[in-house]
Amino acid sequence: MSPPSTLGNDKPESGAGENYADINWDDLGFSLVPTDYMYVMKCAKGDKFSQGSLVPFGNIQISPSAGILNYGQGLFEGLKAYRTEDGRLLLFRPAENAQRMKRGADRLCMPSPSNDQFVNAVKQTVLANKRWVPPPGRGSLYIRPLLMGTGAMLGLGPSPEYTFLIYCSPVGSYHKGVLNFKVEDKLYRAISGNGGTGSIKSVTNYAPVYAAMTDAKANGFSDVLFLDSATGKYIEEATACNLFVVKGNTIFTPEIDGTILPGITRKSIIEIATDMGYQVMEGAVSVEQMLGADEMFCTGTAVVVNPVASVTYKETRVDYKTAGPEILSAKLRTTLVGLQTGCIEDKKSWTVRI
Ligand code: COI
Repeated sequence: MSPPSTLGNDKPESGAGENYADINWDDLGFSLVPTDYMYVMKCAKGDKFSQGSLVPFGNIQISPSAGILNYGQGLFEGLKAYRTEDGRLLLFRPAENAQRMKRGADRLCMPSPSNDQFVNAVKQTVLANKRWVPPPGRGSLYIRPLLMGTGAMLGLGPSPEYTFLIYCSPVGSYHKGVLNFKVEDKLYRAISGNGGTGSIKSVTNYAPVYAAMTDAKANGFSDVLFLDSATGKYIEEATACNLFVVKGNTIFTPEIDGTILPGITRKSIIEIATDMGYQVMEGAVSVEQMLGADEMFCTGTAVVVNPVASVTYKETRVDYKTAGPEILSAKLRTTLVGLQTGCIEDKKSWTVRI
């Protein structure tokens, strides 16, 4: 298989007769469907990334003493490509992912690809796997960039070699069914305040949520949401998404304070809601505020915008409306997805055509 190398193709893709992978597009959830190619670029400690290439998707060889395996020197990103009704392929704000990866790389002492390298690599990966981008309205191609210390080492310190790798998978909905959250009040996702790693997409932030998530699921909940580790009074985020609560015409969301992941969907939803005339307050959001809210929803690349049906805090359960014309999250989701899929004119230049 030799990878296609074309970039910047301005010609509209032909929608009809497009070559598609032979899978059932209506069966997509959020699990890995291996595609044809992945992108790999390496560099030595102290150097800059320069040249990467597409290779067939498959296992990678890595030293057992690699920094990522032993000391967790690694980051990931997540973004999506959409196929529009008229056959274009669109990315949503990919430079934001490049910048977030750079901030994480600085924190973890890793070199990072430049914005252009990142975005070009994403475009190449999508083009090489074009037949895996779902038909319009049937899902998206989830793109997973990784940055990891892959050099062999034993003592503690930045890895001697780094790998930037992108793979992708067609996906549908992240959450199945309505969302019933349990508030986790014993385990924390990240240490509170600045100085920790809660605001970067370090791989080490994710496995620590498994214990609470597994326990909650075993008790019939969909997921957990975490509280701040300093006081246990304020909501932070769920395992894989940012949180919003709505009271009247005001939307509250935890501020980016070093603990909260600066979600790109979060940022876009704040702007869309503000444009619609809602007041968006970024600050500390207490458990009481959440329990007294009219509506609650979560956002993320994987989850998009999802209404929360209930939260349970200790013995108290609160139910929120998730359907009806007054539901704000549905309006926000429609606008966001409309922009992402090319159904709504993108006056903000958020979408990038491949
Ligand atoms: C994303 O939304 O891209 C994420 O990183 C969520 C992931 C933990 C499934």
